[in-house]
Amino acid sequence: MVESKTVAPDDQPLLVADNLGKNYGRLVACRDVSFSLYPGEVLAIVGESGSGKSTLLQLLSAQLAASAGRVSYRMRDGVLRDLAELGEAERRFLFRTDWGYVHQDPAQGLRMAVSAGANVGERLMAVGWNHYGRIRDTASSWLERVEIDTGRIDDAPRTYSGGMRQRLQIARNLVTEPRLVFMDEPTGGLDVSVQARLLDLMRNLVSELGLAAIVVTHDLAVARLLSHRVMVMKGGRVIETGLTDQVLDDPREPYTQLLVSSILPA
Ligand SMILES: Nc1ncnc2c1ncn2[C@@H]1O[C@H](COP(=O)(O)OP(=O)(O)O)[C@@H](O)[C@H]1O
Ligand SMILES: [Mg+2]
Repeated sequence: MVESKTVAPDDQPLLVADNLGKNYGRLVACRDVSFSLYPGEVLAIVGESGSGKSTLLQLLSAQLAASAGRVSYRMRDGVLRDLAELGEAERRFLFRTDWGYVHQDPAQGLRMAVSAGANVGERLMAVGWNHYGRIRDTASSWLERVEIDTGRIDDAPRTYSGGMRQRLQIARNLVTEPRLVFMDEPTGGLDVSVQARLLDLMRNLVSELGLAAIVVTHDLAVARLLSHRVMVMKGGRVIETGLTDQVLDDPREPYTQLLVSSILPA
């Protein structure tokens, strides 16, 4: 639809972090993080508040410059590139097309005062769509996909409930068929029943679209439901990593055991 995809072969990583670190003055927010993410893989980053999850996500998505190490991403031509060395056009392509970013606070990911249809359509216009009817039809079909009544297409998200706003944010991100979606506490701040519906929707979309995703959450139920693999952070370091079921059912590290038994504050 947007353009033909040359998807990287599944045995080649989509994103690679090498000894990634970030300091704020003397405070080490994140250090020595290395891992590879493969196409279609969902990775959860978990840990208590202040453990460095959001900092790591911002480093991985090139929103923050690293103090140490590097992040590489496989562009659609198959070449693995250091994010710090991309040109402006390549960065724009990643942010507008190949990546999605779902914020915990929908107000950061949406334009609250313009219509839902425009929120979705805007991403398409940014990648060169210019036919009003096609943009509107595509926006409308994405609203349906995220279970928003298409009768609300001309309403602004500030008139939407929290759950609807979050689903609209997802539609806006997925309409350009990204290969990788970053999410920071996507269900944070929502009622439990609303969270469950959102999680179910995200899980279906991620698997239908074969998306790779990196999800930051302090909620292990979110990690359990969405992710294949988990990284546990403490004090800015990754202290345990593995398949989600293994880590959550049989954690090796005492800290992860505490986290799983919900003794630690989220
Ligand atoms: N912009 C910043 N300036 C200074 N310190 C920061 C900044 N952002 C985060 N920190 C600090 O870095 C550490 C990790 O924060 P963060 O990545 O937000 O953790 P989490 O998302 O796991 O709650 C915390 O000690 C936090 O106070
Ligand atoms: Mg955070």
